[in-house]
Amino acid sequence: MHTDATFGDRSLFPSLTARAYLAHAAISPPSVLVERALAQCLQGYAARGALAFGDTIGQRVQLRAALASLLHAPEGSVGLVPNTSTGVTDVALSIPWKPGDRVLLFDGEFPANTTPWQRAADLFGLTVVWHRADLFRTDPTRAFEALDAELARGLRLVACSQVEFQTGHRLPLRAIADRAHAAGAELFVDVIQGLGAVPLDVNADDVDYLASGSHKWLMGTEGCGVVYVRPSLAPALRPWVAGWTSHEDPFRFLTDGTGHLRYDRPLRARAEVFEVGTLNALGCFALEAATGPLLALGVDAIWRHANAYLDALEAGLTARGLRSLRDGSPEGRSCILGALPPAGHPVTAPMLQRRLAERGVITSVPDGVLRFAPHWPNALDEVPAVLAALDDALAAP
Ligand SMILES: Cc1ncc(COP(=O)(O)O)c(C=O)c1O
Repeated sequence: MHTDATFGDRSLFPSLTARAYLAHAAISPPSVLVERALAQCLQGYAARGALAFGDTIGQRVQLRAALASLLHAPEGSVGLVPNTSTGVTDVALSIPWKPGDRVLLFDGEFPANTTPWQRAADLFGLTVVWHRADLFRTDPTRAFEALDAELARGLRLVACSQVEFQTGHRLPLRAIADRAHAAGAELFVDVIQGLGAVPLDVNADDVDYLASGSHKWLMGTEGCGVVYVRPSLAPALRPWVAGWTSHEDPFRFLTDGTGHLRYDRPLRARAEVFEVGTLNALGCFALEAATGPLLALGVDAIWRHANAYLDALEAGLTARGLRSLRDGSPEGRSCILGALPPAGHPVTAPMLQRRLAERGVITSVPDGVLRFAPHWPNALDEVPAVLAALDDALAAP
């Protein structure tokens, strides 16, 4: 078995049974690197109990650095959270809102990036306005006109995703950020459908806040994620949620004797403030191991690999009458290809997903869209087998 990651080589996933695993936009299978890291973490606690906790403190420093590196974010700007929703919630409840502030949300978003803002609106007296996310794919000129008009009416914040979860459309983050910032608004981005496989640079994309879980393109496990806060904005946040590890130097009273148990330590004026208590140690170990191949292969190269796969797949899908929702230009492409069944064919997307799974091709089917989501281990020569399975699935009674 190779221990290094190689494009198109599944040997780090020896337990994976699928003929073609194309559901990385849902949940990624863990590599043996992740399995080993989980075993190492558990073994540490099994062997040494409380003494293993010390290892986790250093491990988190490394994990935050790996995540910051994937985001091109400065040191100290990321915190560890249980999932995307918690990261969105933490920011949504901590922005120093004024009653009547307006927040722009997008219809078509995964609800992880809407519910927390709606909740903040209830709690802080905000006004939520809605635009259609898919307009950026179908008619970007109108989407930007609508955004400009809304910004002219006054917005405090725009909340969108880097990649729309069903169509796979990659939003023009920099253009949205430029418009938002010129109008005095901030930009929050849910990056779970891109981080690890679709290029993202918090400085180049000028993102103010973001959040992501780790079980999709980061290839970690459920229950561990990341939140980013632009360092210049962090001091202005009023953390609505805080806990014993939100403070500066939170662990000293546990190790350094008396005199360190204090209740007046300042809250960390950075994303780590949202690390409110004991973290998911297993998830953190898994995630750090999972970032290894991503950093080694490089996100740009992963995106190119997945898109070479999707180029071949898309040609076969359209030849069979399926309608691809993939963008025509590279800037609008993620590593997801959403497709609709052939017009006039009795088969639905969920039926196709089930039939493909029976034939060893694992896809997902959010919002009625058949979603193909290859990552770095998928070999390009899988594509003919996927299309053969699709032929069978379309022909099945
Ligand atoms: C765009 C998007 N955001 C968020 C999530 C999940 O949110 P959480 O990490 O809070 O479970 C998903 C999918 O599960 C998603 O597709």
